[in-house]
Parts: sequence; C-alpha cells; structure tokens
Amino acid sequence: MTETTPAAGFRILAREDFSDVTYSLVVHHPLMAKAAQPGQFVIVMSHESGERIPLTIADFDRKKGTVTLVVQAVGKSTKEMQQVCQPGTSLYGIVGPMGVPSPLAGKKKVVCVGGGLGVAPIYPQARGFKENGAYVIGVLGFRTKNLVFWADKFRACCDELILCTDDGSVGMKGFVSDGIKVAIEGHKDIDEVVAIGPPIMMKACADTTRPHAIKTIVSLNPIMVDGTGMCGGCRVKIGNEVKFACVDGPDFDGHKVDFNDLMMRLRRYKEEEKAALDRWSENCRIMQQKPTVVPGNGTGESSLGLPDPFEEAMGG
Ligand SMILES: Cc1cc2nc3c(=O)[nH]c(=O)nc-3n(C[C@H](O)[C@H](O)[C@H](O)COP(=O)(O)OP(=O)(O)OC[C@H]3O[C@@H](n4cnc5c(N)ncnc54)[C@H](O)[C@@H]3O)c2cc1C
Ligand code: FES
Repeated sequence: MTETTPAAGFRILAREDFSDVTYSLVVHHPLMAKAAQPGQFVIVMSHESGERIPLTIADFDRKKGTVTLVVQAVGKSTKEMQQVCQPGTSLYGIVGPMGVPSPLAGKKKVVCVGGGLGVAPIYPQARGFKENGAYVIGVLGFRTKNLVFWADKFRACCDELILCTDDGSVGMKGFVSDGIKVAIEGHKDIDEVVAIGPPIMMKACADTTRPHAIKTIVSLNPIMVDGTGMCGGCRVKIGNEVKFACVDGPDFDGHKVDFNDLMMRLRRYKEEEKAALDRWSENCRIMQQKPTVVPGNGTGESSLGLPDPFEEAMGG
C-alpha cells in the first residue's frame, strides 16, 4: 500500500454526473491503477484539511493510468466534493489500494448484484470474473429509469443482464432480490452471488440465497477512520467473530454478517454529521458565491481554491 501526496495532488481528468447526487471522477494515478484489484478501495482527502473518506475503486485502467471513483453526495464531505471536484482540479491525497482483493478465479457461474450506487463497485468484480472465464449474470437495481448508469459497461462483460427498477420504468419491476430469484430459477448451478449496495439491500440478498445454500459475498461499508486496523472504527460482527472491514474485508460471507449491528453503528454519529453539514451549508450560504476552482498549482497548498468555511469542523 502506498500513501502518496505529491504537491500537485491527483488530477481529475473527467467527471460525469449520473443524477443530482451521484457523480463519477476519473483520476490520474498510474501507480494506483497498476496496483488496484477488484474489491479494493481508497481513502481520499479532497483538500488539505478535508475528511478522509473511503471510496471503492469503481474502475481502473492500467494503460491510461487512471482510477474511477463513483460518489454519492450524502453529507458534508461528499457534497463539498460534488461542488468543487471538476476536471482540471486535483484531489489532495489518495491512500490505497486498501482491503483484501476479491477472489475471482475458479468460479464457473456467478451472479454480480449492484443496487443503486453499489452498481459502480460491483463492476470491476463482474469484469474480473469474466476475464477469469466465469459465466457472469449481472443483476442491477435502481429506483427508476433516470437513475440507471453503466448498463452498457455491464452488457459488455456479462453473459446475462437483469435490470430491475422499483417502479418498473425499465427492465423488470422489483428489487435486486427479485432479480436474484429470476437468476436462481434459470440456473441451478450458481457458484456464488456477490452483492454490493446499502446494508438493507445486501441483507435482503443474503436472505434470498440462504435457503438455496448459495455462497453469498457482500461488501461492507462501516464507518472507517484510519483504514489500517488500528482504530477499531470499522468493527463488524461476522458469525461469532469480530473483524475489521478495512483490513479483513470489506468482503465477507453475507450469511454470517450481523447487519443489524452494522446499521446501528452506521447511525451512531448522525447528530454530528448533521451539525457538520448544517455548518458547511450555512457558511456556503453566507459566502454567497461559488467556490473558485483552480487547477492543482504545485505549491502543496489545497488544490481547490476553496476557502475552508468550516475550520471548526475539520474532519467532518
Ligand atoms: C469500504 C468503503 C467503500 C465505500 N465506497 C463508497 C463509494 O464508492 N462511493 C460512495 O459514495 N461512498 C462510499 N462509501 C461511503 C462513504 O465513505 C461515505 O458516504 C462518506 O464517508 C460520507 O461522508 P460525508 O461527510 O459526505 O457524509 P456524513 O454526513 O459524514 O455521513 C453520511 C453517512 O455516511 C457514512 N459515513 C460517514 N463517514 C464515514 C466514513 N469515514 N467511513 C465510512 N462511512 C462513513 C455513515 O453511514 C453516515 O451516516 C464507502 C464506505 C466504505 C467503508
Ligand atoms: S478503519 Fe480503523 S480499524 Fe478499520
């Protein structure tokens, strides 16, 4: 694992907005692209005093030397990034790749399930299974047609694609757990299901496969701080064992995960998170101007020309 913070930061080459709250960033980082494996993640600081936030490596291109991150703006740091991370600006720091790579070899038939934002992190795994010779069934779930992204990328690496929407506006009407049922009805020889999405979705996927005794891997997203196994922040319960998602995961056996404990721990800092977001929003309102975005200038200072309006709330 390498921690790298060159003076100019890591240049954002491209950005795509999938919806009001979801956006992708293609970041120039040849070393990270070379080392990245499906299932791994990075910890990003968007600017010098920014919070460290874990983000899955949603794609990597070793030839171009890029990694792609897909972000959902849910709180202060991800909304701030949504405002200021534009092509030509830079991310201040990226640590990684972190986490245990997903084992991809030796599977004959797999189902790769992504729900909402989880569609992005499941992509490298679907592509990796395909490259290792597996028959890949993709199951992607979105609330509605307008939120669908990367369906073409999945069509290129999946033998079958089951698209689900909550409202039936495209594909089959239903949740990804309904899509898994369709896959199981059509295929009696599935080796493994891999599911990524909100905890409640991954729980539903594990509950769907349990009666069929199909091995089910989920990627857990507890609150992380250091990402090195030292702070204990990302503690998760797997059967009778306690594991740290940053170093032991983030992939775990979905039939053994204590999802209720995970969801309770994710809610633990709700008040502090809301206060940080409120302070940031209020400061943005007072400034009543869009932040000035300047490309990384090699000075070692924040590559975002954004005055930090929340000094007292550093780190979120
Ligand atoms: C291994 C891993 C991979 C992830 N991959 C992605 C990804 O690819 N795209 C994406 O948009 N999000 C991803 N997340 C979640 C992302 O890290 C959080 O949404 C982000 O940290 C929220 O920060 P915030 O300040 O915007 O929101 P806040 O208001 O601070 O938090 C909103 C919610 O995000 C979660 N969260 C907050 N801080 C952290 C933290 N330090 N670590 C983990 N979760 C936190 C909590 O559930 C919290 O209630 C991942 C999390 C983990 C652990
Ligand atoms: S983030 Fe600190 S132990 Fe995992």
